Amino acid sequence: MSRPISAPRGIRDLLPEDGPAWSRVEGIARDLSARYAFDRIETPLFERIELFSRGLGESSDAVEKEMFRVSGAAGSEEERAEWALRPEPTAGIVRAYLEHGMHVRPGPQRLWMIGPMFRYDRPQAGRFRQFVQWDVEVIGDPGPMVDAEIIELGHRFYAEAGVGEVVAYLNSIGDATCRPGYRDALVDYFAAHEDRLTDDSRRRLRVNPLRVLDDKDLDPELAAGAPRSLDHLCDACRAHFAAVQALLDDLGVRYEIDHRLVRGLDYYTRTTFEFYVAGRRGQQQALGGGGRYDGLVELLGGPDTPGIGFGIGIDRTVLAAAEQGVAAAADAPLLVVVGADPDALSPRLKVAAALRGAGLRVRVDGSERKLGKQLESAAKLGARYAILVDPQLSLERVILRDLKASEQREIALDEVAASVR
Ligand code: HAM
Repeated sequence: MSRPISAPRGIRDLLPEDGPAWSRVEGIARDLSARYAFDRIETPLFERIELFSRGLGESSDAVEKEMFRVSGAAGSEEERAEWALRPEPTAGIVRAYLEHGMHVRPGPQRLWMIGPMFRYDRPQAGRFRQFVQWDVEVIGDPGPMVDAEIIELGHRFYAEAGVGEVVAYLNSIGDATCRPGYRDALVDYFAAHEDRLTDDSRRRLRVNPLRVLDDKDLDPELAAGAPRSLDHLCDACRAHFAAVQALLDDLGVRYEIDHRLVRGLDYYTRTTFEFYVAGRRGQQQALGGGGRYDGLVELLGGPDTPGIGFGIGIDRTVLAAAEQGVAAAADAPLLVVVGADPDALSPRLKVAAALRGAGLRVRVDGSERKLGKQLESAAKLGARYAILVDPQLSLERVILRDLKASEQREIALDEVAASVR
């Protein structure tokens, strides 16, 4: 026997026992996407690397450290270096938005998708190299109402998923008018305390000073004294943020201001937010996050267009719901079609097809084993009923056996559905 092959590190197989919990949570995301009037979009799993380096920023972790490069089977070095698995969906959605001229369609575009993302990060509890995000984006709406609408949507999702109390941490990081001033203030402050910074922060200070605030090893005292973006907002950004908060207050959505919430991707402007289970703030604990990206469409070659959205981690949501003991609804009862005649497979398959056509959940036993063995297997599979195809009867009639009660009766095939529901 040859050596079994194991999965790459940092990925997870979704096994049959995981299916119901995933389907439940994904079902809530799909349903809410419809209720909040979002339209579905799908973009490819891989894109040109340039889309990510330009869109998310060269200095973001997703681009600098975590890119999964994809190479063609053959081709020049240059061609091989061109692609990467998507670390997040927003850049690809904006690319598609521009490529398909969606900016000339009426109204803001409200788009959603669910799919796998890839980040070549160090695997840990809650941090995977392939993970699933539910993503929503509104492109072409300057807000602030839509900011509150999106955050309320996130809250509703977690409530319906049953992950316990969730807090949205909220900040505003300004725009092209006020960010440069804030950036300078941060550089002045941290440069004066450079000896207290980690190596990583010292590097961040040069390429992207806001991200020093994101350093988990930042000296807490230093962090507490750092300039706050809310104190540096221009009038327009300040008014926008005040309106977002007032709308959230009116909606009764729970949020807390977090002055260090700058987010890890460079495209953000103004409103930024992250969702956590109350009291569970930490690395790898964010259940979701997002914000406004008013410069991204233009950065990717389009007209000046505002945007906002979030990405919610489905893996982490499923784990959090499981911790709360939320159970998925049971599947529909299982029926197994068995046959007394070991040679007659066609009648079994026909009966199974008819029952499936009537909407039932059906397996069919194609073995030549004795009837008793087939019934035993059906019970082991957890089936509630067996349908016996009896060679003495026409195919319009079958025997319905209740495997729990060990009772059976002859019944018309087209009456089975009504009697087992
Ligand atoms: P993000 O904060 O990088 O944002 O990711 C969103 C969520 O995806 C995280 O809060 C987390 O739940 C989940 N997630 C991220 N990385 C991993 C991982 N390695 N393993 C498991 N789960 C993970 C974005 O991706 C932005 N595109 C969100 C957005 C949309 N902003 C505007 N529109």
